[in-house]
Amino acid sequence: MKILVTGGAGFIGSNFCYFMRKANPDWDIVCLDLLTYAGNLLTLKGLEGDPHFSFVKGDIADKDFIFKLFENEKFDCVINFAAETHVDRSVDFPEDFVRSNIFGTFVLLEACRHFGGIRFHQVSTDEVYGDLPLDRPDLLFTESNPIKPSSPYSASKASADMLVLSYYRTYGLPVTISRCSNNYGPYQFPEKLIPLMIKMATEDKPLPVYGNGQNVRDWLYVDDHCSAIDLIIKKGKIGNVYNVGGNNEKTNLYIVKTILKALGKGEDLISFVKDRPGHDLRYAIDASKIRQLGWVPEFPFEKGIEKTIRWNIDNKEWLRAVETGEYLNYLQDHYGKR
Ligand code: NAD
Ligand code: DAU
Repeated sequence: MKILVTGGAGFIGSNFCYFMRKANPDWDIVCLDLLTYAGNLLTLKGLEGDPHFSFVKGDIADKDFIFKLFENEKFDCVINFAAETHVDRSVDFPEDFVRSNIFGTFVLLEACRHFGGIRFHQVSTDEVYGDLPLDRPDLLFTESNPIKPSSPYSASKASADMLVLSYYRTYGLPVTISRCSNNYGPYQFPEKLIPLMIKMATEDKPLPVYGNGQNVRDWLYVDDHCSAIDLIIKKGKIGNVYNVGGNNEKTNLYIVKTILKALGKGEDLISFVKDRPGHDLRYAIDASKIRQLGWVPEFPFEKGIEKTIRWNIDNKEWLRAVETGEYLNYLQDHYGKR
């Protein structure tokens, strides 16, 4: 089995490469990544020299490049993680999101259609469903919820999902989609809530909480997302969508306070700042469909957050490498005037 993992130098894609080398030691992995600000080769250092792993730098939206790669490599399966992923950046600069997330997915689907016999899995997000009210804890996202994205990011992911499903219906392409809730764990870029707050707390800087901090996310440790995708590739029903989530709903304020407590820092570091435009209130996943396939998440939130905080403390070299000038400018532009 030879798989293409796109976006494999990013957070979840890299964790997936490590996970799959252990779970399927005979499979060959080709990892393709554009190495945007969010992708880093240092993240894949542990796979250097592995005869079952290779890395290619490239853009999923570059049709000539992708077609040549498919012609040379003859993949059995494509797992598409590559995307622009930060909601705040999509509010300020939506164009890259349309290009990579929609057009890039289109190019990969076209390559699968052209070369034939390739299984395609799209890594999507629960954000395509929009949000849920805070005062209705009984409501959860199921796979049949309407698609109602709020941000340019989630709209681009929703568009990609629609394309993927249309390639199943129209061309019979063997596709599946997973829609997962918020991930956390090693190698997450420090623009996202958990690694950003760990960084700020360790540096004794203010922790910027949007609005009143009562928005809710459903957190899943990254390895549990990886095991879900592995299972869907092997046992998922073609043409189907699977929600993935671990029933770990927490307010942002709870997350921030947990991090401060674990690091022995005071809550006076919390700084409430101007809210995100269009900020989704609550995400919560009904994962019963994938659980029926046999998926069981392994990491309770308390264990996962402890591992993640420890990883961020122990991997200062990686953090220094990803905190480039682009990142520092982003922090200044985004939070400076908030
Ligand atoms: P990330 O931003 O850490 O990584 C994305 C990777 O994609 C980066 O390495 C980047 O260089 C690469 N990339 C971007 N545009 C590319 C292009 N045009 N061609 C090739 N590579 C490109 O993101 P992540 O958090 O690891 O998310 C991975 C996938 O999982 C995304 O599709 C995202 O929508 C989805 N997802 C993320 C979460 C989450 O909580 N992080 C939850 C559900 C779904
Ligand atoms: O639900 C899955 C999605 O989760 C993925 O599809 C996205 O790629 C991923 O980025 C994530 O989106 P969120 O917007 O939920 O994640 P983020 O870490 O940006 O924010 C989590 C919550 O924390 C959200 O309610 C906004 C809030 N927040 C975030 C940042 C960066 C703050 O209060 N302050 C901040 O500085």
